Amino acid sequence: MCGIVGYIGSKNAVEVILAGLHRLEYRGYDSAGVAVVRDGNLEWVKSLGKLTALDKKLEEKPLNGPLGIGHTRWATHGVPSETNSHPHFDMQMEIAVVHNGIIENYQELREQLQKEGVTFRSQTDTETIAHLVRKYYKGDLFRAVQRALQDVTGAYAIGVVCKHNPDVLVAARHGSPLIVGLGDQEGFIASDVPAIMKYTRKVLYLDNGQVCEIRRDGYRVEDIQGKPVTLTLQHVDWDDAAAEKEGYPHFMLKEINQQPDVIRNTLRGRVEEGSDQVILRDMNISEEELKAFEKIVIVACGTAWHAGMVGKYLIEKFARTPVELDLASEYRYRDPIVPKNTLMIPVSQSGETADTLEAIRIAKKRGAKVASIVNVVGSSVARESHGVIYQQAGPEIGVASTKAYTSQCTAFALFAIWLAETRGLMSKSQAKELIAYLREIPEKIQWVLDNQEDIVRCAKDPKYLEAESALYLGRSFNFPSALEGALKLKEISYIHAEGYAAGEMKHGPIALVTDKLPVVCIAVQGDTYDKMVSNIQEIRARKGIVLTVATLGDEDIRAHSHDIFYVPPCYEPFSPIVVAVPLQLFAYYVAANRGCDVDQPRNLAKSVTVE
Ligand code: AGP
Repeated sequence: MCGIVGYIGSKNAVEVILAGLHRLEYRGYDSAGVAVVRDGNLEWVKSLGKLTALDKKLEEKPLNGPLGIGHTRWATHGVPSETNSHPHFDMQMEIAVVHNGIIENYQELREQLQKEGVTFRSQTDTETIAHLVRKYYKGDLFRAVQRALQDVTGAYAIGVVCKHNPDVLVAARHGSPLIVGLGDQEGFIASDVPAIMKYTRKVLYLDNGQVCEIRRDGYRVEDIQGKPVTLTLQHVDWDDAAAEKEGYPHFMLKEINQQPDVIRNTLRGRVEEGSDQVILRDMNISEEELKAFEKIVIVACGTAWHAGMVGKYLIEKFARTPVELDLASEYRYRDPIVPKNTLMIPVSQSGETADTLEAIRIAKKRGAKVASIVNVVGSSVARESHGVIYQQAGPEIGVASTKAYTSQCTAFALFAIWLAETRGLMSKSQAKELIAYLREIPEKIQWVLDNQEDIVRCAKDPKYLEAESALYLGRSFNFPSALEGALKLKEISYIHAEGYAAGEMKHGPIALVTDKLPVVCIAVQGDTYDKMVSNIQEIRARKGIVLTVATLGDEDIRAHSHDIFYVPPCYEPFSPIVVAVPLQLFAYYVAANRGCDVDQPRNLAKSVTVE
């Protein structure tokens, strides 16, 4: 999730852009850059690392001009480097583009442009846009951008300037946010409101498939086919702090609400249009290798380990390959056996977790192939793996992992389908059906987000809010859901919570059941539903408090539950991705109601980079 800022007016664009980019740093950054148009020239400065590195470069080589664009990069294609940082340019270095999003067909566009004589400088998908704009440029930048985007599929929010058009700033979006700010004889573009609130609170929210030409004295908006569009001017009344969270009280709640788009982005570019064939190029695993793996080892910590358990269940169900799941902190000290043809799949949002990194090094030394599921591009885990599946979830600021978890589960689903198909254990039609199920998940999550009344009510209910302990129970695919739900509650509300395989109740935990103990039972429709109902009845017989996560439409479960969080019907193996959301919300509201520091819980760090 990169940050974009653009400006046209009479101020020095660089000052406006840098101030704006600093307000967007929470969106993640690994490199940054700015380009300005002045006196018929296009000038730019780019830098690797934090924004302060760009600031420093600009002190040494000051830039100014009344028109410009800037960018902080959160890499999705191409490791962080100065070459890969934005803006990107056409071959003549006369057109500059900044971009937030993922161009799904960038490889074919790149190949086609190269056939037409274009030479590329970077590994990024963004650079294809700059060359496409040049291809269609005949003097009108707005028209050239409009035409170029007709060739593009994927998600983008872009800003474009050209040295021959000193009075025009062009912006467009599809699938990534972009706003237009309007001032007195000046205009702005930004990924997010905080970047420009200092200058104007009059904004237009571009919608998908819209292109905007901003001039000092006005603007015009059309769709990419050229049909004029009328947008309503909005007035932003957030304060600065609220604006970074897009109006949410905490980053965690913002990130929980981002999950429908996050799942779409995790799937983006991984399923071939038309064929629905899963393509995970960045894993760098050949089909021969894939067929030859005799064992898969998943290592991770915390929430990522819970996602790894979902991954184990999915891979074994679909691809019938034995999967060993291990906590990285245990794996690294137990002198693990790594037979030939072992694939290790480390899972890490930050890509900097010390134990996970050490586990990778041990497995590599013992001959394993390592392909990680990781969110931060160019992170240590990514760099030390032979291949990756980048989650494409955008930076996760809240210490409690939410969107990273559902994104990791989605990535495992893709891998499991790919492995099963490659091994001839899944037909194309079965794979197509499973991918259709995955594509339905965002709206199932959206349903939960739009129907939170019961969750909000329970989070205020003293029998939960004031509980001293809680038990979370699940079976099969939702055993990891129970573990993850319990971790969410304990780490942000400080209520002791324990996730358990429901079948273990009789082996100890049932001794804990009293009329003061809330027991969260995940009993969505599936193979183990009846067993879960039996567990619930055992708990009720001992006066336990039962809060059930159930499938919408299941009325029978009401008789056994004090409270119910419903989720839409979902293909059971993928249900952990949806079940996670009410449990995230429940933990969030309980913690908030208890006055806890939701985004930065005590004693916790976002990334455990030391043992
Ligand atoms: C989960 O909410 C915690 N933030 C923590 O357990 C986290 O999942 C764990 O530290 C692993 O982090 P990673 O995914 O960055 O490796």
